[in-house]
Amino acid sequence: MDYTLTVGLGTRSYPIHIGSGILSRLGVCLQECLQVKRYAIISDERVAGLYGAQVLRSLHAAGLAGEIFTFPAGEASKNLTTIAALASSLAQKGFDRGDAVLALGGGVSGDLAGFLAAMYMRGISFVQVPTTLLAQVDSSVGGKTGVDIPEGKNLIGAFYQPRLVLIDIEVLKTLPRNELLGGMGEVIKYGASLDADFFHYLAAQREQILALDASAMGYVVHHCCALKAKVVEQDEREGGLRRVLNFGHTIGHALEAASDYRLLHGFAVAIGMSAVTDLAVLCGYARAELKQEMTTLLSAYGLPTAVPPELDRKQITGFMQTDKKSVGGRLFFVLPTELGKVLVTDQVDQAALAQVLVSQ
Ligand code: NAD
Ligand code: GLY
Repeated sequence: MDYTLTVGLGTRSYPIHIGSGILSRLGVCLQECLQVKRYAIISDERVAGLYGAQVLRSLHAAGLAGEIFTFPAGEASKNLTTIAALASSLAQKGFDRGDAVLALGGGVSGDLAGFLAAMYMRGISFVQVPTTLLAQVDSSVGGKTGVDIPEGKNLIGAFYQPRLVLIDIEVLKTLPRNELLGGMGEVIKYGASLDADFFHYLAAQREQILALDASAMGYVVHHCCALKAKVVEQDEREGGLRRVLNFGHTIGHALEAASDYRLLHGFAVAIGMSAVTDLAVLCGYARAELKQEMTTLLSAYGLPTAVPPELDRKQITGFMQTDKKSVGGRLFFVLPTELGKVLVTDQVDQAALAQVLVSQ
């Protein structure tokens, strides 16, 4: 079953189409939604090798032109050097404001291509075609784009919304298992923080979801995008409400940094969700049973729930204090109060925080 939904942002509203086999219909979808005739496809070498030819065929069959620009796969490519190289390549090939940038890949491709589109000629049209579960349920929606600098992850960027998001769940079949499970960390985040019924659905449909059953996975991706769209529509630039999407991320980001990014993002978020649930219980915001519910589902999806013993607790706390999401030196935590509900607070007892990191 195919789904369509809209991210409602006035004149910058855009549709998200979700379905099985969309990649082979990409050209027709683009033609139906946009006036653009020529696309600069930005993709890492691995994804370009898997899907580049199919995407080009589909564009050509619809009478559209496309050219693929690649970079080495991985977070290490998400920097200003890659942006400069891609911008030069686009300029040399004569891409202009009438053309569009198309991100084909995971969150790294999406963040890079989106930032490139925001900067190139002061902004050209941008399309997201996410191919990891993380990108399909999170990074392709909401317009956060950017790159890393040595001083920190995602420190340079722009809010720049795509004009269209096309999601083919079929491509998840080639995704390495760990990447799929990491994406499930973000999926569980939506249920745990925003929608208790969805949390229970994830528990009940585990087998179908992990087997990539098209109906179950289509529903999951659609539901996550719908939940995220609702938040982004109300708070596009993270003035307040959008912070709820960072459930598990304050501690999660610190864990990623302390592990020198060996810990996959979704795995770090899973540990972060488990740790902030402990924190909420200790601070009296949630009942003790919530921790059990949270860890049972995370474990069922093969996700970790405890801080790896080899990580230095002091270093984790240090990374938390320099988190870019702190505002005026205040560090905000998203704490669960019950399944599907969270509160955002900077009032966290430091002793409780230290206890949570040690006891994890
Ligand atoms: P990624 O883009 O590096 O993809 C992970 C790996 O999977 C890569 O090796 C890639 O080549 C491979 N891959 C992608 N699709 C595949 C497929 N269908 N089959 C086989 N292999 C495939 O990483 P990611 O986890 O998708 O994204 C992480 C990035 O997303 C981080 O840089 C993070 O900061 C960013 N992010 C951004 C937002 C946002 O709102 N903009 C939100 C969350 C995360
Ligand atoms: N991934 C969190 C956000 O988009 O706000």
